Amino acid sequence: MKFTTKLSTAFNAQIKAEMWSSNLYLSMAVYFMKAGLDGCAHWMKKQAEEEMEHAHKLIDYAVMRGGNVEITNIDAVPVNWKGPKEVFEHVYKHECHVSELIDNLLNLAIAEDDKATQDFLWWFVREQVEEEDSVEKILSKFNIYGVHGLFCVDQELGKR
Ligand code: FEO
Repeated sequence: MKFTTKLSTAFNAQIKAEMWSSNLYLSMAVYFMKAGLDGCAHWMKKQAEEEMEHAHKLIDYAVMRGGNVEITNIDAVPVNWKGPKEVFEHVYKHECHVSELIDNLLNLAIAEDDKATQDFLWWFVREQVEEEDSVEKILSKFNIYGVHGLFCVDQELGKR
């Protein structure tokens, strides 16, 4: 059974969203590199790679299901933030948004009665729980240690 047109279109939107996320985190990596916070930059580069892996996972599956995969222009991403903590607050907000997108995609797969796609998307549902959790933990550290703890946070994130 091939993808329905609705699912094919929705997958293209999600592929674009994952690629945009990858660019967002790469932009954040550059922000940290310029600030001399190499650990935070390293964490963001890894995050950017992960988002591109998500895009590839969706692309591979959509092609396998006969979807009309199209790679289109990626909109510009932000390039500046008020400070390191604000960057991670943005990451958390963005990951919550991505979780919503995944939920909507799964709801569509349910509405279209595509069980294989539902099964495929549960991996992303679980992944989002981890993504939100890991950023929440980083934000907790910022809240506990404050600005003076930035050096410790930077060192720790460099180990990712
Ligand atoms: Fe692919 Fe961080 O969501």
